[in-house]
Amino acid sequence: MNCPGDWPEEIVRVQSLSESGINAIPQKYIKPLESRPSTIVTDQNINIPLIDLQGIYGDDNLREKTLSQVSEACREWGFFQVVNHGVDPDLMDRAREVWREFFHQPMEVKQRYANSPKTYEGYGSRLGVEKGAILDWSDYYFLHYLPCNLKDFNKWPALPSSLRDIITEYSEQVVRLGGVLLKILSINLGLKEDFLQNAFGGNDVGACLRVNFYPKCPQPDLTLGLSPHSDPGGMTFLLPDQHVPGLQVRRGDGWITVKPAPHAFIVNIGDQIQVLSNAIYRSVEHRVIVNSAKERVSLAYFYNPKSDLLIQPAKELVTPDKPALYRPMTFDEYRLYIRTKGPKGKSQLGESINSPR
Ligand code: OGA
Ligand code: NI
Repeated sequence: MNCPGDWPEEIVRVQSLSESGINAIPQKYIKPLESRPSTIVTDQNINIPLIDLQGIYGDDNLREKTLSQVSEACREWGFFQVVNHGVDPDLMDRAREVWREFFHQPMEVKQRYANSPKTYEGYGSRLGVEKGAILDWSDYYFLHYLPCNLKDFNKWPALPSSLRDIITEYSEQVVRLGGVLLKILSINLGLKEDFLQNAFGGNDVGACLRVNFYPKCPQPDLTLGLSPHSDPGGMTFLLPDQHVPGLQVRRGDGWITVKPAPHAFIVNIGDQIQVLSNAIYRSVEHRVIVNSAKERVSLAYFYNPKSDLLIQPAKELVTPDKPALYRPMTFDEYRLYIRTKGPKGKSQLGESINSPR
């Protein structure tokens, strides 16, 4: 398979642009009118469902209730928040804040980890390699935790000196949560409880972290921090910035802004679970808006299938009424699309591009 080799244009760090004190953003970041943040925003009193995950360890009644809350959230929203999820709240704060510190180090410290579109690992400022593309107002850091052979501490920042330890512990706990949720989803789909875990490769799942840094933006109405996309992988565990909203989830023609609950994870269904569930669960488009007052840091943990396994609709969910909607494909093959073209709604699953760029 052909892999993109290098960036088509010189890389500009959005954080440097922001800190330079410009009061008009470069043309490259200005979205076409119909894709700007002001496009229909849905009722801002609505929020995605909030679920207390501790309920699955309660008595039968509570367990059933919790399973059905997750089931409804998966069917109706593709997005929900969980609290009492088993990840240490203090560790969540430390993980977010150590990354904030990373981004506030001098540029030469960060540039040592500058990434390329070959693997995307490291410090980056764009997704996709199309020359002349309109870019998003964010920088990021991408690293692998699983499989073990992809985890390379040399590709994780050495500074701040506590980062590697904190992120190792954080990763371990989030991966455990991933396993718990895959079981819940399997049961809710009427499959054996280890079905999804096995389909993802058993102990050989993938887990990678994308830390997003959204600098202050002098003209937030003209751009986006992250363009509409669905997550290509299995399931995502997003740790948002507690005090700075920004994530918006598609609801019909509009977007609702997620209001983060304290120490909650925002969980969403990725494209691979849409495929495995034969679209009983669907990945949902989301995007990020920025603002002129505050930077925003978020940690998106992607829990993915082993990259060379064929992913296809579960046989149990394919019937004469509901034939298989997707052909088998490995995750490696699948994610090449977003890595080449950048975030483009759900066009990868053959669904129309709602927000042309
Ligand atoms: C992502 C993502 C949302 C956010 O990294 O895929 O959707 O709030 N991030 O940063
Ligand atoms: Ni996403």
